[in-house]
Parts: sequence; C-alpha cells; structure tokens
Amino acid sequence: MQLIVCKTADEAALRAAALIAEQIRSKPDSVLGLPTGSTPIGVYSKLSSMYAAGELDFSRIVTFNLDEYLPIAQSDPNSYCAFMHRHLWDKVNLAPENTHIPCGEIEIEDAEDECRRYDAAIKQAGGLDLQLLGVGRNGHIGFNEPNDFLQLPTHAVTLTESTLEANSPLFENPDDIPRHAISAGLGSIFGAKKIILIALGKDKKAALSAILNNTVTTDAPASLLKLHPDLTVICDTDAYEQ
Ligand code: GLP
Repeated sequence: MQLIVCKTADEAALRAAALIAEQIRSKPDSVLGLPTGSTPIGVYSKLSSMYAAGELDFSRIVTFNLDEYLPIAQSDPNSYCAFMHRHLWDKVNLAPENTHIPCGEIEIEDAEDECRRYDAAIKQAGGLDLQLLGVGRNGHIGFNEPNDFLQLPTHAVTLTESTLEANSPLFENPDDIPRHAISAGLGSIFGAKKIILIALGKDKKAALSAILNNTVTTDAPASLLKLHPDLTVICDTDAYEQ
C-alpha cells in the first residue's frame, strides 16, 4: 500500500487527479470505477479543469459507477446518476454510451436482474483498470456495509442507520432518502488493477485507521483493501492525525 498524507483536501484532490490523469494518458481507453459522495467532488473538478485546458481526452474512456440508491429516478437531483452528470459526465468529453451506473428506477424485487446485467457489462468491458473510492464513516466502500460477510457480485443492500444519518442531510426532506441501494461488490472492486482510496476530514479517522492498522475485518469493509496489490490511500491530516 502506498500512503499519501496531504495537508489539505485540495492537495489530496490534486494528487488523486494526477494519478487518474496518468492512467488516462497511458491507456486512453481505460475503464474507470467511480464513486459519488462529497469526497471525489474535488477530484472531478480538477479532472474537468484539465479537460477544459486541453490536457486530457475522455473520448475513449469507459466508466462504471459503484452504486445507486434504490428506488430513485435518474432525474432526481439526489440520484447518483444526477450527481455524476453535474460533477463529471457533462463537463468532459465522455461518450454517454461509455458511462454506466446501476439503474435505481426499479423495485427491489427486480434488483437481481439489474445486478447481473451490471456485472456482465463490467466483464464485457474487460474489468476495471482503476477504481477510485471514498469511504463511509463506518468503513463502508460503495454501499458494502459492515456485516458478518461481504458479497462479491453487484447486489442490493439495505442501508445502515449510520449511512442513512450521514447521507440524508443531502435530501431536501431527509426522510425521503431511499432505504436501499444497488452496490458493486468486492469482486469488481478487488478486480480493479489499481485502487485509489481518498479519506478526508475528522469523520473518517476511524475508517482510515481500519485501513492502516494490521487487521482485516468485515466490520470495516475498507480494511480488506490492504490486501490489494496496488492500493494508494490519499488522506488529509485531519483524517490521519489520531
Ligand atoms: C456514500 C457512497 C460511498 C461514499 C461514502 C462516503 O454512502 N455510497 O461510495 O464513499 O458515502 O461519502 P462522502 O464522500 O460524502 O463522505
């Protein structure tokens, strides 16, 4: 594991964006796994600026997002689909057919079909070259919540109270947050050739320490990432200093 401790969140975003830019330049048809949440916003902003400055070309890049609420309309401003349009997809020259996100416009009973379709699409694209990750306060990655066991395939999940509490303030009416989601499993995340995880702010201290300590546990899914052969963890001092 490579650990990069940055003084500020902005510096962390810059370091992550530089690594992603390097991936895009060295393999212009890279398949990228992308997260949502507040953490990657700075990275997407830097990548968009590099594109605007003519420094990056996304025309052959393929992206797969980690997760989506269930149920939620894609046009709902709180959907992760809308988030991706706002922060990256509409700001760079990604071909719309090359951007993928699980469809949340279904009932939970139909989630299994959507999950199998999503994993097949990742496989058909050749798997992920690089997976960018944030981390939940409780150590979740994507929506792989702490549990007795973790799932390899894309799957439907019931969100934990901790995650609902962390994410519901973003909804105009916090009670409107969907209670379920579709999330990539540990299979496609671990299958990525490179993983970059970003942890920012004091709220992420426990999650970061679960990654940096010497144990792995499904109680903090992010702790398993230290088993990956090409993991870079980028954090700020607020998350790092114990
Ligand atoms: C959400 C997402 C995760 C994300 C996490 C942290 O629940 N499903 O992919 O990493 O929350 O979010 P934030 O970056 O806003 O702290």
